[in-house]
Amino acid sequence: MEKTLVIVKPDGVQRGLTGDVLRRLEAKGLKMVGMKMIWIDKELASRHYAIHTGKAFFAGLIDYITSSPVVVAVFEGRAAVQMVRNLAGATDPLAAAPGTIRGDFGLEIGRNIIHGSDSPENAATEIALFFRDEELYEWPRDTERWISEG
Ligand SMILES: Nc1ncnc2c1ncn2[C@@H]1O[C@H](COP(=O)(O)OP(=O)(O)OP(=O)(O)O)[C@@H](O)[C@H]1O
Ligand SMILES: [Mg+2]
Repeated sequence: MEKTLVIVKPDGVQRGLTGDVLRRLEAKGLKMVGMKMIWIDKELASRHYAIHTGKAFFAGLIDYITSSPVVVAVFEGRAAVQMVRNLAGATDPLAAAPGTIRGDFGLEIGRNIIHGSDSPENAATEIALFFRDEELYEWPRDTERWISEG
């Protein structure tokens, strides 16, 4: 089953939106298989956002993501990567549709509340960056047959 990494970014945690963000992903039917609060350091931030090294917004992005604790989670489900991207909305809240997390809760691209992996391959890399194997659970969900056709 596909997995994706979600980060409730520092602004999401500071603004008390952690529950709202996770609730939307849970309500969609995605299954949470790991979750914790961490304070990302510069090294981890630089590895996670390595693809953006050298861009004009890189320094600001690293400052932002390391500025305060975040909540990281792994969600699992059918097409989990794209499902989370759909619920998160466009990177810039100005372009994010109402009804999406960024569309409903954000104003600025540099304060856009949530991270979601952008491909299954990157999801696997990112999950390994943030979670040890024993922090992820394979648990049977009693509502599964009401969510998945199986
Ligand atoms: N032009 C920009 N100006 C300022 N910040 C930006 C800009 N582009 C991206 N960012 C920041 O860098 C993050 C990573 O950019 P990316 O292109 O990977 O967008 P994303 O995949 O929608 O977001 P994320 O990777 O955080 O889920 C964005 O979420 C945003 O916070
Ligand atoms: Mg991205």
